[in-house]
Amino acid sequence: MTSRRRLLTSFGAGLLLAAPAFGALARPRANATCGPSDCDTCGPTGRATAGPFYVRNAPMTTNINLLDAPGTPMQVSGLVLGGTDGQQPLAGVRVELWHADRDGRYHPEDSGDISRYRAEDINLRGQTESDRAGRFAFRSIIPGRYGNRRRHLHWRLVVDGHQSLVTQTYWLDERGTQHERSDPVDRDPEACRWIDFRDGDAGVAGHVVFVLRPAP
Ligand SMILES: [Fe+2]
Repeated sequence: MTSRRRLLTSFGAGLLLAAPAFGALARPRANATCGPSDCDTCGPTGRATAGPFYVRNAPMTTNINLLDAPGTPMQVSGLVLGGTDGQQPLAGVRVELWHADRDGRYHPEDSGDISRYRAEDINLRGQTESDRAGRFAFRSIIPGRYGNRRRHLHWRLVVDGHQSLVTQTYWLDERGTQHERSDPVDRDPEACRWIDFRDGDAGVAGHVVFVLRPAP
């Protein structure tokens, strides 16, 4: 087994151990159908700008550190809900994630279709689909800050029957700090977009719930 395989295997084991912690934080609803661990009280997810570095048709992959860039490993799992009550797990949602490297740079630092770029210029961006339970997960590295932005992840979610969502999520431990106060973008994100990343055996792991609005 390569050192990279060992690292990922170890990281996965850490996530399994960390999973009950997420459930302990959730507030289940008696009639919820979204599962026992993370049916919570998130309302429709707020929108935030895609910024200037969104690249269309990013690779289908759950490990978006395609070029093995250095950094602290990060796992982010998620649940996508929708329906008229915002509590129905949504399967087959196209979930895109992109973010900066540990030095705050995007790869590429540009936009447009993926076909414009060489493979060696594309990193830290990818997409997957939610499973039958509305769940998804990505592996990557913790992004660095840039400019006066707080640390953040960019997301785009698309599925038939619901409004598409472009948004950003943040690190809970930066909430209320100077990093939040100095950031002019997305001034007042709702509570569910502050992810509580926890240290694991190898890197950090966090969980997010997105709630899509039904299409009009
Ligand atoms: Fe950004």
